[in-house]
Formats: sequence, structure tokens, C-alpha cells
Amino acid sequence: MLISTKISEIREIIREERKKGKEIALVPTMGYLHEGHLALVKEAKKSGAFVVMSIFVNPLQFGPNEDFDRYPRNIERDARLAEEAGVNLIFNPGVEEMYPTTNLSTVAVGKLGDCLCGTSRPTHFNGVTTVVSKLFNIVQPDRAYFGQKDYQQYLIIKQVVKDLNFPIEIVPVPIVRESDGLALSSRNVYLSPEQRQEALVLQKSLKAADEWIRQGERSGSLIEEKIKEMIRGESSGEIDYVELRHPETLDRVEMIEDSVLIALAVRFGSTRLIDNKLVEGL
Ligand code: PAF
Repeated sequence: MLISTKISEIREIIREERKKGKEIALVPTMGYLHEGHLALVKEAKKSGAFVVMSIFVNPLQFGPNEDFDRYPRNIERDARLAEEAGVNLIFNPGVEEMYPTTNLSTVAVGKLGDCLCGTSRPTHFNGVTTVVSKLFNIVQPDRAYFGQKDYQQYLIIKQVVKDLNFPIEIVPVPIVRESDGLALSSRNVYLSPEQRQEALVLQKSLKAADEWIRQGERSGSLIEEKIKEMIRGESSGEIDYVELRHPETLDRVEMIEDSVLIALAVRFGSTRLIDNKLVEGL
């Protein structure tokens, strides 16, 4: 496995792989790898492509009072896990390599970025779309892999690819969970044992909501209220949002007719966790 911090080297290596007839797959990450990231690699490997993983904690997607400085980092561990998973090349740039000027052009998200996480993190998705667009231009992959835990991010990236005509297929990969149901996230390391235990209510409430819907409940606002009640009743978590949204447009769902996305964000102490469930086949 190769590791490079330089855009010019990455381009050179990828050019050589293209000459050999290889397709290129990109797995963008901020590192501190867990099984969720490795599931993206596994999916990328299936196509036989040359797999590039980017590891870059992107300052642009963190708000001024967020956890950019303390975001967990461990490149030696990441490199070992990536190599074991079959990654061919890691791109691990510094901030100066990615953002050499403060006079930065950015990629602005459309309306998909205005709701859910975009409400409490107003600059977040512009940071994501900017860095992902840069990674797409640097690596020029045939396919790029995104986890569905960040469902809104996945939809936004799909929209950017369509709007800006990137010739890239965006491949969604299902959420990976611990055996007790907690969705994997690099931020889970911030949780105290008590908070981690309490956070199990997130998946529990999503599962319960799925059941309520399958048993015939159709009111979006009633389900939102019942989920909130469960979270408040079984944890000290502070709810940022619990919302039922259309899985493609992210429009609010008042009356469930077809597939619906249940998305939530809850703070445990200073750690904000997100989770979601797509309810289909009604
Ligand atoms: O999902 C993430 O880890 C990040 O938002 C991404 C896509 C790597 C962009 O920094």
C-alpha cells in the first residue's frame, strides 16, 4: 500500500494505474477508521478497482465551536487497518496541501443542506461539498463510496455530482452497528460508559418507530413525538432533531404514504450523535 501527502504524487500514481486499465474507487474519510469505513473499502474492492482512501480531517466542515481540534486522529493505526482491508493508496494531505490559500472558492449546497444537520451546523455541508469536490478532482475516481449513517451527506453528494456533472457513480453503503445496535462513529470514543449505554436508545427508538409505521401509524408528527418521548424517558440525551423526511427530497413528511426516512441527532454531553432508518416497502 502506498501513502502520499501530495496531490501531484496522487495524480501520478493514479495516471499509472489508469494506463494499466484499472478503474479507480475512492473512499473519502476523516480517519480514525472503524468497521463502517472498512465496509466502504470492502464494497469498493468488489469491483476490482484500485482503491484510494483519503484521510483528511477537513477544517472547513467544522463550526467555530465544534470538535476540529480534538477530533480523534491516528494515522499509523489507520494505515494498518486500511492495508489489511486492501486499500491500495492512502491520500493523507495536510491542511496547507488542500487549502493553500485563504481566498478559497467553495461549493455551495442547495436546499438539501438547509434542514436536519444543516440547521444546527449551518456551514457544515458547504465544507463537505467543497472538500469532496476537491477530492473528486484530485483522484478522478469512477466510483466513490459513502456510508448511509450520514444519509443527508450522501444525498447532497449525489446532488452535487448531478449538478456539477462529475462523471462519478456514488455508491451508498448501509450503516454498520456494534452488536448492541449503536451506529459506528469515530465520535463514539468521546462517550463515557454511561453515555454509551444511554445512546442505545437511538436505535431502539428507530426500531420502535419502524414497528409503529408497519402496524399502520401514518402521522409523521405523532411518530416524531413518540420517538422524542422514548429518548427523553430512557436517557439524558438532549434532542437536536427527530424528523420524518422524504428519502429523496428531504421534504417534511406529515402523512406517510410511501418510503420515509426517520432521522435524528441527539447530544450526550458534548457529543452529538446521528442515526437514521429508512422505512421502505410499506
Ligand atoms: O463523512 C465523512 O467522513 C466526511 O464528511 C467526508 C465525506 C470524508 C468529507 O470530509
